[in-house]
Amino acid sequence: MAEEILRITGGRKLRGEITVQGAKNSALPLMAASMLCDGETVLGNVPQLTDVYAASRILNRLGFRCKISGNTAKIVSGEGETEIPDEDMRAMRSSVMFLGPMLGKRKRCVITMPGGCELGPRPIDLHLDAMRQMGVQIREQQGKIVCQAEHLHGARIPLPFPSVGATENVIMAAALAEGETVLTNAAREPEIADLAGFLNRCGAKIAGAGEGTVIISGVKKLSGTAYSVMPDRIAAFTWLCACAAAGGTVCIRGTEPKDMESCLSVLSAAGCRLGICKDRIYLDCSHPLRNVRYIRTMPHPGFPTDAQALIAAVLCTASGTSVIEETVFESRFKHVGELLRMGADIRVSGRTAVITGVSGLHGAEVEAMDLRGGAALAAAAAGAEGETVLRGLRHIDRGYDHFADAFNSLGGNAVRRVISSAVR
Ligand code: EPZ
Repeated sequence: MAEEILRITGGRKLRGEITVQGAKNSALPLMAASMLCDGETVLGNVPQLTDVYAASRILNRLGFRCKISGNTAKIVSGEGETEIPDEDMRAMRSSVMFLGPMLGKRKRCVITMPGGCELGPRPIDLHLDAMRQMGVQIREQQGKIVCQAEHLHGARIPLPFPSVGATENVIMAAALAEGETVLTNAAREPEIADLAGFLNRCGAKIAGAGEGTVIISGVKKLSGTAYSVMPDRIAAFTWLCACAAAGGTVCIRGTEPKDMESCLSVLSAAGCRLGICKDRIYLDCSHPLRNVRYIRTMPHPGFPTDAQALIAAVLCTASGTSVIEETVFESRFKHVGELLRMGADIRVSGRTAVITGVSGLHGAEVEAMDLRGGAALAAAAAGAEGETVLRGLRHIDRGYDHFADAFNSLGGNAVRRVISSAVR
């Protein structure tokens, strides 16, 4: 069977500039939230990702008319099914975000458990508990989770953990519920504020999004609108890390630097020179970089778990020892084994990775095991001596719009090839 790979020739400084894509982790909840609206919703700056196409398939299966053309998604409301087929639930780990809007709009939704393994188990107990508190009856039968409610009512919902997805599902379910919902210990990620910004423009009454307490006053109806997706802060950080790993000078346009403070401060601590002007981030970096003694991933505004593999790729060739602790997901070090094949010196025990800087990495055959881990391997390959063959591109295509083109616009040298798996 044919397989696609990326051949990356490293060892050359990066030089160039690009405009960052729209945020995957905002476009997906916004597409789900459009289900709450009557009429037509037009989303701009939507990145071209396999996860976006998967979300479009789910919307069309549920009776909405969703059309993606270029970076625009048009969603027209409609009636239809309330069950999301298992294959769609499995195609995208975050398919659980359709639960809240389906219950908000149709008071019924049948889903199956999203798969685990990629980053560790991906339970949805916080989502289901929150829905129960709003009056939803939930029962499991033959692996299906059947959720339905006579009517949804507001509630005081303290989240045990500031889960991004659970926060988004509560906001979407509460937007059309009867009465007021007060969500405490809510996730503060910028994508939450983007979701609330969209829903408020559709007529919702949501206050405090982006803070720890979000108050949603249910309304009778929401009307579709035009809205532009916020920039992808993790994709922006990806390109900065590719430059930090290879050395050079790049400019990333169309960013929101205030959403990236914890990421940018780590790059500065490692010795990169950063300049910020409105929506542009400039990075200039010459090697060797300095180690960063201790990085701990935390919910926003802490250092994001999605940036963990990316900064690890940078610190592999920093002088000294850096320690990274992953506190959000159970198993998010699958990229380490692949970095070792490139000559990195990293030891993992439990949720902690200890990186001892080496003078340089070399190219190797490596495989992406998850989205951000794959991007981290490409960043490492940019700075590695010789050629790297990167497999598992399906993970990268889930979250990066034309990854190789963006990488090469910054001066990288990546060629996407189809090979027969016999060559493997
Ligand atoms: C969102 O996932 C993002 N995905 C993830 O990005 C990101 O890593 C994560 O938030 C944390 O920032 C999207 O927005 C589509 P969580 P989500 O609920 O909502 C546990 C990427 O690379 N948990 O905040 O699934 C969970 O297992 C992806 O772009 C429960 O235990 O993250 C994890 O350990 C990867 N029970 C932790 O909370 C629940 O009911 C954080 O999960 C829900 C979550």
